[in-house]
Amino acid sequence: MPRPSAVRPILLATSILATACVLATALPALAAPPTGGWVFDGGPDFPGFTRVQVHKDHGHYSGTVTSHWYGDLPLDDVRVDGDNLVFHLSNGNPRVAESDIVLKPEGKAVHMTGKLWYADFDIPAHKATTKALKALDFPVYPLPPRRVVQPLARAETPPMGWNSWNKFATDIDDRTVREIADNLVASGLRDAGYVYINIDDGWQGNRDQAGLLQPNAKFPDMKALADYVHARGLKLGIYSSPGPKSCAGYEGSYGHIEQDAKTFAGWGIDYLKYDLCSGEAFYHTPETVHAVYQQMAEAIAATKRPMIFSLCEYGRFDVGSWGRDVGGSLWRTTGDIEDKYETMAKIGFEKNGVPNHTGPGGWNDPDMLEVGNGGMTTDEYRTHISLWATMAAPLILGNDVRHMTPDTLALLTNREVIAIDQDAAGVQGLPVKKEGTREIWTKRLSDGATAVGLFNRGDEAASVTVTWAELGLKPAKVRDIWANTELAPAAVQTVTIPRHGAVLLRVTP
Ligand code: GLA
Repeated sequence: MPRPSAVRPILLATSILATACVLATALPALAAPPTGGWVFDGGPDFPGFTRVQVHKDHGHYSGTVTSHWYGDLPLDDVRVDGDNLVFHLSNGNPRVAESDIVLKPEGKAVHMTGKLWYADFDIPAHKATTKALKALDFPVYPLPPRRVVQPLARAETPPMGWNSWNKFATDIDDRTVREIADNLVASGLRDAGYVYINIDDGWQGNRDQAGLLQPNAKFPDMKALADYVHARGLKLGIYSSPGPKSCAGYEGSYGHIEQDAKTFAGWGIDYLKYDLCSGEAFYHTPETVHAVYQQMAEAIAATKRPMIFSLCEYGRFDVGSWGRDVGGSLWRTTGDIEDKYETMAKIGFEKNGVPNHTGPGGWNDPDMLEVGNGGMTTDEYRTHISLWATMAAPLILGNDVRHMTPDTLALLTNREVIAIDQDAAGVQGLPVKKEGTREIWTKRLSDGATAVGLFNRGDEAASVTVTWAELGLKPAKVRDIWANTELAPAAVQTVTIPRHGAVLLRVTP
């Protein structure tokens, strides 16, 4: 028989337990999201989800969703909703607002529903062993310590050429590139300075067993294409990404940087546009973005083939202040241009980086030209090219040069406009006066003259009055470049400009 003093606590414990059992059966079970790891069963190619892992620590849920495009994305803004876990995923690009993603238990499995970037998804995942989850680890590669890279190619003036993206997007092939090469020559564009032919996204195929990146079936022989282009006095450019995927979802250079640089050099490539794309999910600090661009610059330098290195990370982290250090000859300062006046004007008038960063050897790049693509009027395209020339921006054509109107050709080949863009001083012109929708921009030229751009951003024709003294100029000669006329160098000049139009003057003291 137990002693009475010991019996009492036992009785007490038994009655607490009994009450708890009664309560537990009376109340519904408290729902809570599951923890563990699951492997996705299929799902869309973008972003190629592979696994989801959820942990709980001191009542807080955390975890990651892994994908082929973006590696491990942490669960952000996690909240519990019954037995569902609701969270956000960020791919590093703020252009698309993040939306709720729901992880819902279904027995031992889970279901993940939501939207990332532009894509909706609704995919099941099965419970997986530690080993199966581990097999889906996203590879992480070391980044180089910070160093300054001296490129073998130097762009003394803003690069000029053609690029496939604005007109053709991924619908580009060997034959079209050859025809573009022929037409750059036949139209006089090459002789006007447009010498690079740059194949943008969409040329990439798969890697072979040795990891060598092959072009896709639309580009049967890159080396032969480079030879063809070179034989016409032109240079060939190509496109890749430091991430696993290019922006259009083709194979990126992730994990194959040195190998790809060698491949490009072997083909005879002269120019590389390197686009952050899927890498933006995990290269999202100034240090890592600097390091991945430096890494490719070092890989290019190691090939000993001079290549213009074009940085495309949309102007993040004040790229102009370090673009030259990573061997860059030009760096995008903005998101993508479109063949629309509003987008072009927003980029050109308002967003082209820090002007002091531009100059011989390195150029702010407000994106490629849309002139000739049909979405703007001739006046609007005149504004586009005049503004780009005034800013000493790279002039990379984005139209189908096989089919050009006389207006388009005239806009693209005006030697005096090109001379302003290509002026040896390499100064980025700036606005000196803004009055409502009217703007006056100036650019100092190496021979002492000044380029003056008069712009009407308004929806109606407008007259713009220039008082030379106000701009610190004493003109002996005023030339209206587009009109191909000399204006009397009066102290005050008034010109009428059509809606969205431009007048470009060369003012000589
Ligand atoms: C990004 C770039 C564009 C173009 C596309 C290709 O959007 O900014 O210029 O290269 O990728 O997918």
